[in-house]
Amino acid sequence: MAGWTLGIESTAHTLSFGLVDPLGNPHPACSDTVRPDEGGIHPREAADHHKDIANSLLTNVLEKYDVHPGDIGIVAYSQGPGLGPCLRVGAAIARGISSRLNTPLIGVNHCVAHIEIGRQQCGCDDPVLLYVSGGNTQVIAHLDGRYRVLGETLDIGIGNMLDKFARTQGIPFPGGPVIEKLASEWLENNPNPSLDGLELPFAVRGMDLAFSGVMTAAQRLLDNGAPLGAVCWSLQEHAFSACVEIAERAMSHTGKTELLLGGGVACNSRLRQMCELMTEERDSTSHAPPRMYCIDNGTMIALLGKIEYQNGRVTSYEQSAVDQYLRTDQTPVTWAV
Ligand code: ATP
Ligand code: FE2
Repeated sequence: MAGWTLGIESTAHTLSFGLVDPLGNPHPACSDTVRPDEGGIHPREAADHHKDIANSLLTNVLEKYDVHPGDIGIVAYSQGPGLGPCLRVGAAIARGISSRLNTPLIGVNHCVAHIEIGRQQCGCDDPVLLYVSGGNTQVIAHLDGRYRVLGETLDIGIGNMLDKFARTQGIPFPGGPVIEKLASEWLENNPNPSLDGLELPFAVRGMDLAFSGVMTAAQRLLDNGAPLGAVCWSLQEHAFSACVEIAERAMSHTGKTELLLGGGVACNSRLRQMCELMTEERDSTSHAPPRMYCIDNGTMIALLGKIEYQNGRVTSYEQSAVDQYLRTDQTPVTWAV
């Protein structure tokens, strides 16, 4: 047995250390997220945050589970995609620990890790994945040894769109959960809502999506006097139904009967509800992992690291450089799906 697997996540705003025990059970991670006072995330400032907090976070996670450095048998880290400076901090920590402990090092694909923690948590077999996070919005399905991207955003990720829209209203990062709250509060007072006067462009482009126009149009509604809660509601309805539409088409084309949600935006209750409604109509099922495993977390990196190690992969120091633009379909899926 290879001992415990340590997973290090540092693709963007969050530094997170997670553990998978020797039997393969994932344990909740210790994480810390940069929250800029104003503006978006500056990659170098986020990297500095990760560097400063790393030591205490690592100590926390080891103490939490009473794991000693000598119990660690595999060190996994996010190799990409993500922000270069942030990725490099995680990779440097991983190399350091692996060299100090003389344990195998495994660089994993962050997007594939979102998929595998979801499959493990929800007991899904061969789902279509709707991966909705800050930087990524993709519909993915397994075919011929890869997770293939069947549709994706052509401009910004859905979470970035929500965060940017929120920021224009003075709402700090992450804006997605606040938009959800404002929308549901507005809905409580408007139980029979209508899209009259709240229409936005529909983000679907064939099997792809585009969100920047939706965001601009939502701002215009506010300029024309629509209440913020109403616009948040309409923004969610439009953006989420566009995602659900291409996910449904992917299920129809592939004949798969499970839908799996992943990524930070998958925390959203309205999106979860829309996916359930869509899959019920198709005699299919919709699955969403616990919220702590939807957002970026080190545990999913540890889980995929362990799976890859068990299937014979290790990352040499020469191969351990980060790849900001690593694609979901670049990683061979050598394990059973
Ligand atoms: P990736 O590197 O996979 O793109 P990420 O860096 O964006 O991930 P995640 O933690 O997966 O990080 O997702 C963060 C995003 O999720 C933010 O844009 C945030 O606003 C959004 N989010 C979190 N909770 C909710 C929610 N309840 N409703 C809508 N969006 C949410
Ligand atoms: Fe992520």
